[in-house]
Amino acid sequence: EKGGYDHFMLKEIIEQPQAIFDSMRGRLDLDKLTITLSGIEQYAEQICKANRIVIVSCGTSWHAGLVAEYLIEELCRINVEVEYASEFRYRNPIVNEGDVILAISQSGETADTLVALENAKSKGAIILGVVNVVGSSIARLSHAGAYTHAGPEIGVASTKAFTAQLTVLELIAIKIAHIKKTIDEQQYAHLLKELSAVPDKVQTILDTQLPKIREIARKYKDARDFLYLGRGYNFPIALEGALKLKEITYIHAEGYPAAEMKHGPIALVDENLPVVFVATKDRYHEKIVSNIQEVKARKGRIIAVITEGDEVSKGLAEDYIEIPDADEIVAPILSVIPLQLLSYYMGVERNQDVDKPRNLAKSVTVE
Ligand code: M6R
Repeated sequence: EKGGYDHFMLKEIIEQPQAIFDSMRGRLDLDKLTITLSGIEQYAEQICKANRIVIVSCGTSWHAGLVAEYLIEELCRINVEVEYASEFRYRNPIVNEGDVILAISQSGETADTLVALENAKSKGAIILGVVNVVGSSIARLSHAGAYTHAGPEIGVASTKAFTAQLTVLELIAIKIAHIKKTIDEQQYAHLLKELSAVPDKVQTILDTQLPKIREIARKYKDARDFLYLGRGYNFPIALEGALKLKEITYIHAEGYPAAEMKHGPIALVDENLPVVFVATKDRYHEKIVSNIQEVKARKGRIIAVITEGDEVSKGLAEDYIEIPDADEIVAPILSVIPLQLLSYYMGVERNQDVDKPRNLAKSVTVE
């Protein structure tokens, strides 16, 4: 059942090129330059004219929501708010008729997400779902949506469901932007091409970086705390890296936007603190390189996820993991892979039950 792998988590990490491909299959057609998403098309008009889209989710799915916020604002020029379902449901939120609520959930059964959606639906909102489990409660409650095709995810830590969510959210954002004409034809074609190239690039990471990541995991397995930093599209990935580490290794970890470091967390930096920088080449690259220098000056142990061939970052980091070059818009789907693997191998090194971390359930059906 684990397909020859020691753990479901590793199997599911390795399955990501397929899960991402399957989530685009029959939807993205690179020859015809089309995206087919019938559920979304049905509500395209309401989405295009929405004053705002509210994304509601929990945990890793909430991190996917944060990436979607950046994507939808940038590409579609629609205001997006990302809400923890548990907070949204209890604070009497302002929801009006015709508001667009986008739910993201692997299981489709997360209690807080479900109830938040029920409340919004009763106020007349349009509920769109990005869900992995077909026929689940959230899928049934949604007016429309687009399934992720990650296949069953058994490991409690979400991995392939997350990258499948990002893939579908990219498709939705690009589709809406194209309809709204907030991107031009050239950019549209470029984004479709970049997205189609993702499965092969993920495969490249899996084919080339595993031994290196394993070595880094051995080296840092006894660390007490970890800091994860990223900017822009990689900021939610820093949060996701920290969550994955907590779940799988029980090591305390925090994710921050890299520039927030100066507003507190930099006080933690000393020669014992590993700091993971998600520092791929994007419009913020120069800025994050200076953040790396600031941590280095305080003797922090720098582990960097970088774009291959980035000699400057290689020179600064104590350890680095290289990923293929990609447009910053799809980069998070790539940059999260090394972080999943780092947590996995550290969990294994620490002899932990990586598929079933203590105190956690695969789907949180009680609040
Ligand atoms: O099934 P859902 O996507 O609604 O679940 C949301 C969270 O419970 C889930 O992502 C959780 O944070 C995972 N254990 C993260 O690895």
